[in-house]
Amino acid sequence: MSDSLHTVEVSGAAPYAIHIGPGLLKDGALLAAPLRGRHALIVSDANVAPLYLHRVEAALRAEKPQLRIGRHVIGAGEAEKTLGNFGTVIEALAELGATRDATVIALGGGVIGDMAGFAAACWMRGIDCVQLPTTLLAMVDSSVGGKTAVDIPQGKNLVGAFHPPRAVIADTSALRTLPPRELRAGLAEVIKYGAIIDADFLNWLDANADGLLAGDDVLLARAIARSCAHKAAITQRDPFERGERALLNFGHTFGHAIEAEQGYGDGLNHGEAVAVGMVLAARLSAALGMASREDAEALRTLLLRYGLPVDVPAGLSPEALVARMRLDKKAQASGLRFVLWESAGRARVVADVDEAKVLDVLHEA
Ligand code: NAD
Ligand code: GLY
Repeated sequence: MSDSLHTVEVSGAAPYAIHIGPGLLKDGALLAAPLRGRHALIVSDANVAPLYLHRVEAALRAEKPQLRIGRHVIGAGEAEKTLGNFGTVIEALAELGATRDATVIALGGGVIGDMAGFAAACWMRGIDCVQLPTTLLAMVDSSVGGKTAVDIPQGKNLVGAFHPPRAVIADTSALRTLPPRELRAGLAEVIKYGAIIDADFLNWLDANADGLLAGDDVLLARAIARSCAHKAAITQRDPFERGERALLNFGHTFGHAIEAEQGYGDGLNHGEAVAVGMVLAARLSAALGMASREDAEALRTLLLRYGLPVDVPAGLSPEALVARMRLDKKAQASGLRFVLWESAGRARVVADVDEAKVLDVLHEA
């Protein structure tokens, strides 16, 4: 295996492979292998489609000339991850005449992956979805594990389904066109794996920050493969988040509240909100006596080194953020639930966290 080609197998009731490497979006045989039927709908966004849609379509046509391929392109960004756009994907499937053996091909970042995956979960009560992630965040997180969803004004990802992909094909060459800000957002989710589960990885990320930020192909492929291996291991043991999968939400209770309160517009993107959320969760852990303040500070320093935001954006009220958290999927009837931190590589889920402590941390921030 070359230094930049990796495969991660996900086992369980619906096994699939994650292929990681350069140039994979041109590999017709690899792209066509998971397709079972005569129809494929490629869903993409307005930034990604002009760069990669033609290449994917041409590779598929060359490999499978009889395939009926539809294209559906929506606007780019979190604000487009709506029920309305989900409806347009469903209409595109109907127009294509997609049968039960059709495949939705999600070509883009997590927004496209989540929304197209949800459409695949719903069309005829569930058809195949192949994820072709083009952002680092989607390669290391959202394309793997089968969570699909759209946002509503009341909160992020509140409407969705668990629907594992049939395959994930991550072409690392696509990262060359990714804006640096989006690369850093993906690195926030990579750091998350180190923080919750893999202290050695956290050290490796500290040592290799310059190379990763510069887009070194071999380092990025290694970081993606190690992140996917962690996500695969956790999601195959706990596909429906009844236990340990919740650890993957480290930083997300704060992060989702920030995203929802900003209104999914021009503020922090998902990875950036998670970076701020991890700092706040680490501080909350320290305030509750679970983690040391030094460890919380070290995590903040690492995130800063990666050029990520670590502070709550100005103008967001702590009280409003806590109100958002009450509607988060991680909250339960009994109260707020957080993934809290113990030390590098160790986290745990804590229920019924005192809202006053959460407010204190937000006020201090
Ligand atoms: P995104 O999909 O909005 O992509 C970020 C931006 O990069 C967009 O403007 C997009 O058009 C552009 N882009 C994508 N690939 C590109 C490329 N190769 N070259 C140039 N531009 C490119 O955002 P994201 O960060 O990929 O995903 C965030 C979403 O993922 C959020 O909605 C979040 O909730 C979701 N998510 C889901 C899971 C899950 O398990 N399902 C996990 C984490 C995040
Ligand atoms: N991103 C969190 C999860 O997939 O569970």
